[in-house]
Amino acid sequence: MSSPRKFENLKFSLYEKASEMMMFESYYRGGAWDGGKIVRFHPIELSPAANILNYGQGIFEGMKAYRTVKGKIVMFRPYDNARRFAWSCHKMVMPEVNVEKFMKAVRRVVLENAEFIPETADGSHSLYLRPVCIGIESLLGVRASSEYLFYIFASPVGPYFDKVGVISLMVTDVHRAAANGTGDAKAACNYAVTMKPKKDVNEAGYDGALFLDTVHSRYVEEAGAANFFALMEDGTLVTPQLGSILPGITRDSIIRLAREMFGLRVEERLVDIAEVCQNAQEVFLCGTGAIITSVDKIAWQGTDHMVNKNRFKLAHQLYNKLIGIQLQREDDPYEWILEIQ
Ligand SMILES: Cc1ncc(COP(=O)(O)O)c(C=O)c1O
Repeated sequence: MSSPRKFENLKFSLYEKASEMMMFESYYRGGAWDGGKIVRFHPIELSPAANILNYGQGIFEGMKAYRTVKGKIVMFRPYDNARRFAWSCHKMVMPEVNVEKFMKAVRRVVLENAEFIPETADGSHSLYLRPVCIGIESLLGVRASSEYLFYIFASPVGPYFDKVGVISLMVTDVHRAAANGTGDAKAACNYAVTMKPKKDVNEAGYDGALFLDTVHSRYVEEAGAANFFALMEDGTLVTPQLGSILPGITRDSIIRLAREMFGLRVEERLVDIAEVCQNAQEVFLCGTGAIITSVDKIAWQGTDHMVNKNRFKLAHQLYNKLIGIQLQREDDPYEWILEIQ
């Protein structure tokens, strides 16, 4: 295994020397995918009339490769990302990138960029992989493209939030994704709508926006790029039920760890923002980028509500367990870790 480069002050942003890295690309034309190839990270040439540039027919994934304490290169539940990518293709009427094609490309990108996988003691540094699929046909009327580009690039990254450890959230009245819409797919359009609320809450002094449901503006959905958990007064861990939110792989892992390793009662249900603001002992976000990030306050209806009465105890325990498994410090009873070789 090649030894890693030394990185300083890595943030969650595209590596300044990304042009030294390798990416994968594969085209869909004439009704079939080509085999794809590994090439150097490079700009993509597109028609000004390409579907993705006009109508946003695009999906993506986010996943990480770690260098573990056993000296291995590993990924966390990558087949789940592959299956979600196929689901997102389906929702956006794109030809499916099947699990086998996706995983073959992911392995190649990780191995080709092995020297860019940072060392990490606490899991905050990793090689982030960004698989993307976009409609590239030139067209004028709104319809699905007949030509696509599937590509994967990578970047060494550091912590997702600028502020490490604990963040604040502000409830936004902008809606992210409606029921029966695209919220359960990782579609680019879901993220475009979060940019204005993100800017607004940052200007108001908060770190992230928290989205509520589209019908009642009352039930918590998720943050812009992370799922939501709250530990309630009676010791139940609650998280919004699936439907219009992204079915996060970290969310699913936390539900399993909390139930089976910590013996907690976990409920996937409607989570009323009033209940969270009044009763939550602890709140945290989770995702591939955010890992597990504690929330100390939530601004809602003009008031700051402190939601850290438990002093982040559960989030710390879950973080250590999850990162312990990811870095092979702990056993992996669920076979979540895939060694890449
Ligand atoms: C909107 C949204 N919700 C939740 C998540 C968490 O999903 P996962 O744990 O699969 O990374 C993400 C991605 O990280 C996301 O973009």
